[in-house]
Amino acid sequence: MKINVKAPAKINLSLDALYKRPDNYHELEMVMTTIDLADRLQLVLLEKDTIKLDVKAHFIPDDKRNLVYQAAALLKERFSVKQGVAITLDKSIPVAAGLAGGSSDAAAALKGLNQIWNLQLTLTELANLGAELGSDIPFCLYGGTALATGRGEIIKPLPMMPNCWIVLAKPSISVSTPGVYRDLRVGEVEHPNTAGMVQAIQDGSFEGICDNIGNVLETVTLAKHPEVKRIKEKMLEFGADTALMSGSGPTVFALVKQYSRAKRVYNGLRGFCEEVYLVRPWQEEK
Ligand code: C5P
Repeated sequence: MKINVKAPAKINLSLDALYKRPDNYHELEMVMTTIDLADRLQLVLLEKDTIKLDVKAHFIPDDKRNLVYQAAALLKERFSVKQGVAITLDKSIPVAAGLAGGSSDAAAALKGLNQIWNLQLTLTELANLGAELGSDIPFCLYGGTALATGRGEIIKPLPMMPNCWIVLAKPSISVSTPGVYRDLRVGEVEHPNTAGMVQAIQDGSFEGICDNIGNVLETVTLAKHPEVKRIKEKMLEFGADTALMSGSGPTVFALVKQYSRAKRVYNGLRGFCEEVYLVRPWQEEK
């Protein structure tokens, strides 16, 4: 038995941290949406009790350090699975970018393994297991557009994102997510209007989305890495309707209603950045 699963990237339309919790995580309110930039996983059932992972990309571990491996090991242990799996992971999503690539790969692995090992777990059960491995994995299991609260693992699905173009630009720097959260001063930053963003999504209002976009983590990453701020400014200069950093960065995305302007932003950014993408919101039934 062999199956293929897609693992789409996400962007944060809003990301707010309300306070730091006793467990050292932040209490979050995020509106996220999946985009049409996806990794691909192929899972082959093995009768032998083993997990094999082959990652078609440089510098990404194919052992226990990889969330996909951890997802398979978790299911195996929790449900005493005696069969094995060989997973091939084809990467397209930039790594350590704020686009949840690793989390989405793990979510796709959980979905695929649920099928090939015939575990019959519900989406809620898979999301609870995913949350043990990473805060963004439950959202990646749901996909689409959703409000994520708690440490990111409580998911409320929302209507689809209105159609538009999305330009992504990732500067070639790395940021550490724990480091960004550590440097965040929740009491001193301007907080996005999450309720306004949820309403905009519910109304299907592209303008409302642009009005309510915001990410508190920009206060940390943009201050430390002026090139991220410059990319955001360039996107607006080239005609983006709005631009924001995704997650803890360093990827910045622009939302653009008109294709001709999106193309202008895309072409303009290619002069500044090696990794630039022009995509659309993810649509499940393509
Ligand atoms: O859950 P995950 O392992 O993806 O989180 C990575 C890091 O991001 C955490 O170790 C923590 O430093 C930070 N984080 C946080 N609050 C959250 C989610 C993540 O402070 N709600």
